[in-house]
Amino acid sequence: MSKLFESFSLRNVTFRNRAFVSPMCQYSSKEGLPTDWHMVHLGSRAVGGFGLVMVEASAVSPEGRISPDDSGIWSPAHVDAFRPITRFIAEQGAIPAIQLAHAGRKASTAAPWLGGGPVDPGKGWLTLAPSALAFDKGYPEPQAMTEVQIKEVKEAFVQAARYSLEAGFKVIEIHMAHGYLLHEFLSPLSNHRGDGYGGSFEHRIRFPLEVVRAVRAVWPDDLPLLVRISATDWAEGGWSGDDSVQLARRLKTLEVDLVDCSTGGLVPYAKIPAGPGFQVPFSAKIRHEAGVATGAVGFITEAGHAEALLSTGEADVVFLARETLRDPYWALHAAQELEVDVPWPKQYERARRRHSWR
Ligand SMILES: Cc1cc2nc3c(=O)[nH]c(=O)nc-3n(C[C@H](O)[C@H](O)[C@H](O)COP(=O)(O)O)c2cc1C
Repeated sequence: MSKLFESFSLRNVTFRNRAFVSPMCQYSSKEGLPTDWHMVHLGSRAVGGFGLVMVEASAVSPEGRISPDDSGIWSPAHVDAFRPITRFIAEQGAIPAIQLAHAGRKASTAAPWLGGGPVDPGKGWLTLAPSALAFDKGYPEPQAMTEVQIKEVKEAFVQAARYSLEAGFKVIEIHMAHGYLLHEFLSPLSNHRGDGYGGSFEHRIRFPLEVVRAVRAVWPDDLPLLVRISATDWAEGGWSGDDSVQLARRLKTLEVDLVDCSTGGLVPYAKIPAGPGFQVPFSAKIRHEAGVATGAVGFITEAGHAEALLSTGEADVVFLARETLRDPYWALHAAQELEVDVPWPKQYERARRRHSWR
């Protein structure tokens, strides 16, 4: 009677289990297009038994990329390139999902293995943010968005949602976390606007909610919409757990189906007490106080830990990131550990029982 391996439904989509692959930037795209790397990387985790496999933060427009090598979904060519990947993920019994993102003031940086940080002046692009406040020393000052630019970015999210549907995705997650554009609007530390998009809590949540409303309007009623938030900035005067509960209530009324509860990323000086399950209390708080389904993420590596936090109602699903890089077949192995009988890919069936030859 495992909770981790109990199926889970949101709208008309049923996940075979509650172990989800968290979005992870691969810095391996060309002009935002997925490559063979993505087919193998995402495909392996679908083969590995997860309930949902989420494509990394995919920019809704070229300037919304964290790096020039980021994934994106802003043209019909992206639809064509993603289609075989979503088809393969679905054929393996996992649900294909995509995280839609705009990197805001944290855009125009180099891939980690090229040093990270802002790309050389002249090679990068002008970044957008609610206010002209750089993320950190050495980062360029972003342009404070005009109302026209706010509308354009919202429209880009809507168009990206349409492309995602055409590409075969069954779940969209809007990236409202980790200090990227929508989170920058939420937090008083990065949003110093004096117009209707800044200042009070209501004004700061306005643009992120406009994006959600507009995406929900074009995303089919029978398909789930998720939102990832940073439930705290881990910084004095920043976004808090209580703010997150208020936001989650609003997201629920806008027909968001699940809130994926991460933290941090907004300011470089945040003090983050990272460790096993350190973000789980935010998931539990939001689930109980806002009455919305949640996902827990962060240092979840053990089957028993995932099982326990789901059984105690701290989350509805778990998202795993780095552990799935260590073991793409984590879900199949977790089932064995929890003594749950789940099907293996027929091609791998002969390896399922370690001590049996047939
Ligand atoms: C290589 C890598 C890339 C990541 N890219 C993204 C991303 O595209 N979007 C996102 O929301 N989080 C991203 N994250 C954060 C993870 O989704 C996850 O929240 C975090 O790693 C904590 O989970 P873990 O302890 O299971 O790794 C990334 C993490 C890693 C390690």
